[in-house]
Amino acid sequence: MNDNEIVRVPVALDAIEQETRQVGFTMASERRTGSLLRTLAATKPAGRFLELGTGTGIGTAWLLMGMDARSHLDSVDNDFAVQTVARRRLANDPRVTFHLADGGEFLMTARAPYDLIYADAWPGKFSHLDAALSLLRAGGMYVIDDLLPQPNWPADHAPKVSQLITELESRPGFESTSLAWSSGIMIVVRADAT
Ligand SMILES: C[S@@+](CC[C@H](N)C(=O)[O-])C[C@H]1O[C@@H](n2cnc3c(N)ncnc32)[C@H](O)[C@@H]1O
Repeated sequence: MNDNEIVRVPVALDAIEQETRQVGFTMASERRTGSLLRTLAATKPAGRFLELGTGTGIGTAWLLMGMDARSHLDSVDNDFAVQTVARRRLANDPRVTFHLADGGEFLMTARAPYDLIYADAWPGKFSHLDAALSLLRAGGMYVIDDLLPQPNWPADHAPKVSQLITELESRPGFESTSLAWSSGIMIVVRADAT
């Protein structure tokens, strides 16, 4: 098995990755993360999805590939320039709505529940964590990546990541698994309290 050989990729992926390099965006999700997002998205028919941190739309494209025709994705970023790449390549898909907004403000006013949240920005991960998790339906998934040391991390970032992992692992009412794979993934599922 070679987990870097990913055969089925979103139609727009090559073009988005090329534009991502052209605009110098260095925080894009890698293909193994994308493949996992596609697979997890397919577990939620007619699902409501939220991506915090659109970037140039790489995670967006993978989520859309796994989603069925009745599903909907909200994707949020506060950087007009990078989100424009995603809009140009993906906004013709009626299942996605792009929000140019601060992720924290979006979370404070968002309509619950979501079936899957890909939290790939500071808000919803290192801030506003309670708000993000409170939006999950029972059985809903909260997915984060970049938990293994990355070249672009500032010096003080590693302890924040360790604290986040500990916080999620010990949170009552949630079941989680950490994967030291791809950029470092955590999948956290809201347990049904009934
Ligand atoms: C890791 S990148 C997202 C990558 C993208 N999800 C992908 O799959 O390639 C993080 C993104 O979060 C955005 N961001 C940072 N702070 C934010 C905030 N306060 N509100 C919304 N977006 C924010 C950045 O502009 C950046 O595009």
